[in-house]
Amino acid sequence: MSQAEMDAVTIETPTGDSRILIGAGSLAELGRLVTERWPGARTAWLISDDAVQRAHGPAAAAALAAAGLTVNVFTVPAGEASKSLAEVGRLYDWMLGGNAGRSDLVVALGGGVVGDLAGFVAATCLRGLALIQVPTTLLAMVDSSVGGKTGVNHAAGKNLIGAFYQPPLVVVDPALLGTLPPRELAAGWAEVIKYGMIEGALPDPRPGERPLLPWLETDADDLVRLAEPATTAVIRRCIDLKARVVRVDPLEQGPRALLNYGHTAGHALEAVAGYGGLLHGEAVAIGMRAAAGIAATLDLCPSALVERQQALVRRFGLPERFAGPTPAELWPYMRRDKKATAGALRWVLPTAPGHVEIVRGVDEAVVDRALALVTTRDA
Ligand SMILES: NC(=O)c1ccc[n+]([C@@H]2O[C@H](COP(=O)([O-])OP(=O)(O)OC[C@H]3O[C@@H](n4cnc5c(N)ncnc54)[C@H](O)[C@@H]3O)[C@@H](O)[C@H]2O)c1
Ligand SMILES: [Zn+2]
Repeated sequence: MSQAEMDAVTIETPTGDSRILIGAGSLAELGRLVTERWPGARTAWLISDDAVQRAHGPAAAAALAAAGLTVNVFTVPAGEASKSLAEVGRLYDWMLGGNAGRSDLVVALGGGVVGDLAGFVAATCLRGLALIQVPTTLLAMVDSSVGGKTGVNHAAGKNLIGAFYQPPLVVVDPALLGTLPPRELAAGWAEVIKYGMIEGALPDPRPGERPLLPWLETDADDLVRLAEPATTAVIRRCIDLKARVVRVDPLEQGPRALLNYGHTAGHALEAVAGYGGLLHGEAVAIGMRAAAGIAATLDLCPSALVERQQALVRRFGLPERFAGPTPAELWPYMRRDKKATAGALRWVLPTAPGHVEIVRGVDEAVVDRALALVTTRDA
């Protein structure tokens, strides 16, 4: 596969540029892509988790070695618990103990956990090393590997320690999704459906382009079985949409909030459900239903659009409810959510196919009704 056969999306920001190459089979080109970008590099520090290492580590290491790089591999336990300062410390020990130098490279091979962790290490070790993101989950491909957010968790909360650090190179190989557990894959589709719901509200719209929402409806059968070229094309669109947002809002101060559609109630459900209860994407899917419910109650959103969203959620194997928590249990988490500025929750609500608006001051009773809808057992 030549570079010309890969799609490229480039993000230029004041703190650095990011080039994202997308193509099924591109992992085999990793070494060449890296040495083209950094001709003087000699050593790659490949960071992964145990599941990803088993599935794709040898192929990634072989591709890097074939380009003449020395490859050192570190594997962290799979799971959110690896996004910790303790793990960051172990990675510093490994790299600095192994004489890492300023011209070395950090390769993050994995989902969002590895990407956030290795990205933070790359941002801070020796005041910043070249970073290559190789996302292996659908969520990481369409979301976390793009935009430069890195970091780890703290006892006081998720993602509280981190840095914005643009990866100069991101290599997206949708073929890697073939080994992803089905539940993780579905969770990634939730973020894709989210893009379909918000696309028209994002900066830099392209009027002639095929809208994502009906596209997902038409291609759903191909997408759920990861058929090509449908899968790569949709992933590419989502990356492009995230890039349009990051270009105008690299430090997440404004329009990036639109990407939080479904995340206000979603984050609360994720927190209440606890470890293993709900995957992030599953919580977002349920959160989108809650947001659409609020919008419908406020007469902002036609019920046909709510139903279109839910049909997609079901088609991609995602849950529509999480039975158990009461609205009262969810409120503290929603208030704590990042989008709560000056005490007023900002809801991202759907208003038309592919359109959302930010609405402040939604009546709590309206929110409670929507939360009750997604937390009661199916009748
Ligand atoms: N930086 C950002 O902008 C951003 C955005 C969204 C989410 N995040 C973060 O991303 C994290 C979640 O990421 P995630 O959903 O990718 O989860 P993850 O990284 O934990 O991966 C999910 C599971 O799938 C396994 N896996 C990954 N790729 C695989 C493959 N190709 N084959 C087989 N198994 C594979 C992993 O080992 C893990 O068990 C959270 O920590 C979240 O905070 C960051
Ligand atoms: Zn998300």
